Amino acid sequence: MADEIKRKPIIIGNWKMYKTVGEALELVGALQKALPRLGDIDVGVAPPFTALGAVARQLEGSALLLAAQNCHFEAAGAFTGEIAPPMLKDVGCSHVILGHSERRQFFGDTDELVNKKARAAFAHGLVPVICVGELLAEREAGQTFLVVERQLRAAFAGIDATAARRAVLAYEPVWAIGTGRTATDAQAQEVHAFLRQLVGELYDGSTAAALRIQYGGSVKAENAAGLMAQPDVDGALVGGASLKPEAFLGILEYRRTS
Ligand code: 13P
Repeated sequence: MADEIKRKPIIIGNWKMYKTVGEALELVGALQKALPRLGDIDVGVAPPFTALGAVARQLEGSALLLAAQNCHFEAAGAFTGEIAPPMLKDVGCSHVILGHSERRQFFGDTDELVNKKARAAFAHGLVPVICVGELLAEREAGQTFLVVERQLRAAFAGIDATAARRAVLAYEPVWAIGTGRTATDAQAQEVHAFLRQLVGELYDGSTAAALRIQYGGSVKAENAAGLMAQPDVDGALVGGASLKPEAFLGILEYRRTS
C-alpha cells in the first residue's frame, strides 16, 4: 500500500535569482536558530550559485539541506557559464532543483535535458528535486495529467528504482507560481496521487511509497497546513515566501495551525 510508509516532510526554499552573499547568510542564520524547534522535518535552501559556498560554510554541522537551482549534465568541459554536478557536490550541495518551469520556459530545458541532468546528478551523488507542472492553458484544456505524465516519464528514464526512491518530485502548476493563486488542497492531492501511482507503475509500490512529492506554487503560512495535510503531499517548494525568515518560518511551522 502506497501510504504505509511514513514519509518525512521536506520543505525547500527556492530563492531563484535573489540574495547577495550577505543577505543569504542573514536569512540562513535566522533559519538555523529556528531549526531545533521544527521537529521531524527536512528543511532546505536553494540559494543562487554565487552564495552556495558561503552558505555551505555557515551550514557546516547543521541539518539544513543545501540545494542548487540547476546544473549541467556533463562532469566538466568547455561549457561557458555552466556549473557541473561535481562542482555542486564539492561546494557542499546535497540536492539540485531540476526542470523548474522557469528553466523550461525561459532557458530551453526540455524533458530530455531534465533527464540528462537528473542522471548526472545521481551519478555524482546529488539528489535531484525534479519539477513537473502544467501551464494554465494545458489545465484549461484538460491536459494536466497528460503533461505531468510526459514530464515524469521522461525525467526518470534510465533511472533505477534505488535512485528513484531517493529523488524528490515537485508538482508545481505553472499558473500557481508567483501568482498568489494556489492550487486548492484537492487539486494538489489529485495530481500528487496520480504522480505517485505512475511512479508505482514505472517502478513498484515500495518506490512509490518512499518517494516524496512536494507541492509548489504560492505556498504561504496561510495555506501550508491544508496542503501538507493531504495524504500525498509530502512537502513544499517555496519561492517568494522563502525569502523572508518570518514568512518561511510560518510555513515550516505549519503543524501549529493544522
Ligand atoms: P512561489 O512560491 O513564489 O509561487 O514560487 C514557487 C516556485 O516556483 C518554487 O520553486
